[in-house]
Order: sequence, then structure tokens, then C-alpha cells
Amino acid sequence: MRAIAINGSHRKGKNTAILLRTILEELSKKGVETRLFELVDLRIEYCRACNRCLSEPKCSIEDDDMAMLAEEMLRSDVIIIGSPVYNANVTSKLKTFIDRTRWMHMKRELLQGKLGASVTVAGLRNGGQELAHAIIERFFLSRGMKIVGVRDPERGIYNMGVMATLYDHLEGEADLPSIKWKKTVSDDPLAMATCRFLASNILKALKE
Ligand SMILES: Cc1cc2nc3c(=O)[nH]c(=O)nc-3n(C[C@H](O)[C@H](O)[C@H](O)COP(=O)(O)O)c2cc1C
Repeated sequence: MRAIAINGSHRKGKNTAILLRTILEELSKKGVETRLFELVDLRIEYCRACNRCLSEPKCSIEDDDMAMLAEEMLRSDVIIIGSPVYNANVTSKLKTFIDRTRWMHMKRELLQGKLGASVTVAGLRNGGQELAHAIIERFFLSRGMKIVGVRDPERGIYNMGVMATLYDHLEGEADLPSIKWKKTVSDDPLAMATCRFLASNILKALKE
């Protein structure tokens, strides 16, 4: 079994990467082959809207890193996508990547049946995590993938997904308090717990 995580953050190894690595580590402990891809390390051109993918399952841009990443997606059972929230949305790097997967979808649905999971991080407590999360999940649904969530139906509810928050608390004057931020997402126990729940659900889904 193989699981890859794709990090849409424009910052390598930061909060989104911490969450993705936490999930991959849990999967790796159970023998799943894992790999993390940081979009910031890769050269992925914008889709040129040439529409070649309407007539054959191919992209006309063949000389950037999308070919390698697509190959990785096609040979994986699980695709986890993480994004920081940028303006209540996914990052522009992630959107560029999503657009470039069109050839795997138009003529034939090449990602059909794979497992997908979404991870988001925002600065604010209600900073758009749910919107960004829904955009990633919409991508999985449109590809015929099966979304894995964090809920264990036998236990109480914790959260609707891996959606982390860097906001910690308010300090100072009541009329003009300043925000104190968590140092990293590792200080968000809910986010870290949901990473473990997600990994556990992915392992269950892989056995089904
Ligand atoms: C361009 C930009 C837009 C952002 N927009 C939002 C936003 O809409 N809501 C929010 O809560 N945080 C926003 N943030 C904060 C990021 O979501 C936050 O810093 C996140 O942790 C970054 O993840 P990273 O550590 O993996 O880079 C924004 C950050 C940037 C750089």
C-alpha cells in the first residue's frame, strides 16, 4: 500500500507539512509506503487551457514536474492534500496543481476509487479552514475518489476534519487585545489528535 501527501504550502516544512508528516508517520508505522511532496520544491506550470485533454488523457506540458507527480498519484492508493488557508481558499500553488490534473479526469477517470483526505491550517480560529477543506474534498469527489474523514463512529465527535488553527488566545487591554499565536501547529492538540484519527481511518479503509 502506498500513500502520498501533497503540500500546497508556499513554506516548506512548516505547519501544513507538520500535519501531513504526522499522518504519514502513523501510516508508515503500519507498513504503508509513504512520501511527502512539497509543491514549493516542484516546477508546475499553469494549465494553458489548450484542451488537448478533452480528446486524449494527456497534458501538452510534459517538461515540468507535474509528470512525475501525476505518476506518483496514479501509483498510490491514498492521496492526502494539505493546504494553508490563503484568503479563505487553498493556495495558488495548490490550485495550479489541481488545474494540471485535468488530463487524468476528462477523457477517463484515472483516479477513480483512490482514497483522499484533506488537511488545512489557518492563522485565525475561523479563518476559512472549512472553505479550503471543502475545495480539496470537492476535487476528490470530482475524481471519483473516496473521502476519508476523522470520525470514529464508535466514539464521540472531535472535529469535522484535520483543520488546524494558529490563533491561541487574546492578551492585553479588553478594548484592543492582541492575538497570541501558537508557536506551531504542534501546539494544537485537536489538530494533532485528528491527524491520528485520520491515519487510523485510512488504515481501516485500506483494509476494506
Ligand atoms: C497570502 C496569505 C493569505 C492568508 N490568508 C489567510 C486567511 O484567509 N485566513 C487565515 O486565518 N489565515 C490566513 N493566512 C495565514 C496562513 O493560513 C497560516 O499562516 C498558515 O499556518 C500557513 O501554513 P504554513 O505554515 O504551512 O505555511 C494567510 C497567509 C498568507 C501568506
